[in-house]
Amino acid sequence: MNFLIYLSKPYLILSAAMTIDGKIASKAGDPELSDEEDWREVHKLRTEVDAILVGKGTILKDDPKLHIKYYDHSGYYRIVIDSNLSIPLKSNVITFQPDTYPTIICTTENIPKERIKEFESNKVKIVQAGKGSRVDLLKLMPLLSELGIKSILLEGGGTLNWSFINDDLIDEMRLTIAPWVVGGKEATSLVEGEGFDSMLKAPRFILTNVRSRDNYIILRYTRK
Ligand SMILES: NC(=O)c1ccc[n+]([C@@H]2O[C@H](COP(=O)([O-])OP(=O)(O)OC[C@H]3O[C@@H](n4cnc5c(N)ncnc54)[C@H](OP(=O)(O)O)[C@@H]3O)[C@@H](O)[C@H]2O)c1
Repeated sequence: MNFLIYLSKPYLILSAAMTIDGKIASKAGDPELSDEEDWREVHKLRTEVDAILVGKGTILKDDPKLHIKYYDHSGYYRIVIDSNLSIPLKSNVITFQPDTYPTIICTTENIPKERIKEFESNKVKIVQAGKGSRVDLLKLMPLLSELGIKSILLEGGGTLNWSFINDDLIDEMRLTIAPWVVGGKEATSLVEGEGFDSMLKAPRFILTNVRSRDNYIILRYTRK
């Protein structure tokens, strides 16, 4: 784990809906856990941040628009983490209302200029962080701050959530527990990745709010 506490970075809120057994989608990739009220809360949260951020896996599996329904708003950045700049140009995150929701794709420094130009000509801003096989999140954070992004809602998926947790970059978590137990080791969990080998190494959070409605529980944690 990295303890770069002086890193210039946006405030990061991890937001997810998960089953009682901690899955954020079924083994076949069904992510439909939220009811109407939960969606309203998620969209309200989206109006309060400068950007929403997801991993490439979520784009490929769900093709979300990452827009705001139900509320008036002035737009925000949609940010995708994609090491090889390989999401399809026809993805909703690129084609749907790009003037209201400008899209930033964060990738590595290994990408050919021609590929970058192809995305830029589709109104996508490219930010490059690190020369490794995956986007270097610790290098990325100050670059996003420089763009004026002060707060980010991280909406997964599980692989990307792990990297943010492993780098100790999460300031807050807002979790909805939905009333299903779906099981399956192939079903995506809230946090995937390698995992820590002891609780001592894992970041610990403070429970700051608990609410329940119908059969749902809404939890809010902040980083110790
Ligand atoms: N219920 C919910 O609230 C919720 C929310 C969001 C997503 N989901 C579900 O989560 C599932 C997708 O999760 P996922 O784990 O498959 O994919 P993901 O976390 O969305 O994306 C992971 C991908 O991001 C890329 N990446 C680039 N740099 C990375 C880094 N530093 N760390 C981690 N990943 C990096 C990697 O691909 P490359 O190396 O190829 O770039 C990696 O495979 C979907 O089924 C979706 O429905 C549920």
